[in-house]
Amino acid sequence: MSEKCCCCGNSGNQFKELEPTLEKYARVPGSLITILQKAQEIYGYLSIDVIHHISKATGIKPAKIYGVATFYAQFRLQPIGKNLIMLCQGTACHVNGSQMIEEAVCEYLGISDGETTEDGIFTLNNVACLGCCSLAPVMMVQSADGDETYGNLTKDKVREILAEIRERA
Ligand code: FES
Repeated sequence: MSEKCCCCGNSGNQFKELEPTLEKYARVPGSLITILQKAQEIYGYLSIDVIHHISKATGIKPAKIYGVATFYAQFRLQPIGKNLIMLCQGTACHVNGSQMIEEAVCEYLGISDGETTEDGIFTLNNVACLGCCSLAPVMMVQSADGDETYGNLTKDKVREILAEIRERA
């Protein structure tokens, strides 16, 4: 039996992974953030289509959902690359040269903070403390294979790491 959308009743719902969350929270006041977090966890970002789908399920206008999604830094409205580089800019990393590491990453990949490479392999995000300050400067790379943390970075080391990841992709 094919899955049916909770909002329109159509089968072949492209957001079927989100249905359990919508069934649970769509009519619970104050649950929009929870729904958006789950949607982003599943799809990687909040597309216009998913925002409209959530709107239908919750009865909240798309403009309001979009407003919430743009207000909170945790939400992304663009797809991210296969590897999300979270480059720490916390105090310990900053003191140990995170700025220099960012320059090397940006130069090597040809992108800036918040951008994705054209080949879709990398997205770069500057983040606050990753909780492993003794390894400063640090970056974490999130991918389908899991999270990997790289510490004591230098310009050369970060370039080598990125080259290796690109080769594997
Ligand atoms: S400041 Fe970078 S890991 Fe804590």
